[in-house]
Amino acid sequence: MTGTTTLHTDLERELAEFTGREAALVFSTGYHSNLSAVTTLADKQSLIISDAHVHASLIDAARLSRSVIEVVPHNDVAAVRAALAAAAGRRAIVLTESIFSVLGDSAPLTDLAAACAEHDALLIVDEAHGLGVVGSGGQGLVHAHGLSDHPHVVMTMTLSKSLGAMGGAVLGSAALIDHLINCARPFIFNTGLAPAPTAGALTALRRLRQHPDLPSRIHQRGSELADRFGVQRSAGAVLSVPMASAQAALATHGMALAAGVRVGCFRPPSVPDGISRLRITLHAGLNDDHWVQAVDVLANVIGNHRRTP
Ligand SMILES: Cc1ncc(COP(=O)(O)O)c(C=O)c1O
Repeated sequence: MTGTTTLHTDLERELAEFTGREAALVFSTGYHSNLSAVTTLADKQSLIISDAHVHASLIDAARLSRSVIEVVPHNDVAAVRAALAAAAGRRAIVLTESIFSVLGDSAPLTDLAAACAEHDALLIVDEAHGLGVVGSGGQGLVHAHGLSDHPHVVMTMTLSKSLGAMGGAVLGSAALIDHLINCARPFIFNTGLAPAPTAGALTALRRLRQHPDLPSRIHQRGSELADRFGVQRSAGAVLSVPMASAQAALATHGMALAAGVRVGCFRPPSVPDGISRLRITLHAGLNDDHWVQAVDVLANVIGNHRRTP
């Protein structure tokens, strides 16, 4: 209830430094970050061009903005370009994730940012699954593509994934942050991020900066698991294993849980392609014994419940 403390401003400064952005503002959730970024930058006169696989919080944000919304096929830069070209003088905003939350694939950020710059549009990139996982030391995909100081790129994130806390952030120019503080309804009319998760996120961020090798453990384990199950390697920390049916996904999830391993179970309507799947989230903190144990459990329970290509 007490508003901004030095913990908040330290976290904002360090998040901005880490990702190479000019400034940051923290929110009570990643959901609020997306609502705030989109609704303060877009209005009834705007056009929002949204990748078909973006997270529900970006979809809700687009709806709340009352803009005209065009959903384009997943990672289709040509479709984004065509929509931008047809924007006919409207303010245009493109929505994407850096690493997509269900399939674990990455967005073509360089091409999207170039298309936005050519059409004087904005690109909002949700780094929920990029921060702490991709790029050098986990600085995220925007940073890895050299887009940290790109004037057409706005970044959002949650503090609840690799940083293991709660809360979210929007990162961009100091002018953008000032605009959010003054105009973002989900910021103004919502209790601010509590001090405890702020300190938790700050501590986790500092730990990540001291241990830039942590993300590589994620990728090593992700590749091992992907090869073992014959599925596509993930660009991030989530590995998607398509299952034969929703029932098979649920049963496998239950068996894994009973054996001490918790995995995500995604089934329609929360999967963009309608295919039920297990979503395995990799954790750099698991020791080697626990890792071997977890892989064995997964191999046993997944068995022949997998969807065959
Ligand atoms: C891509 C993406 N964006 C935003 C969010 C929302 O973040 P939060 O849980 O902090 O509200 C999530 C999931 O939690 C997510 O996966």
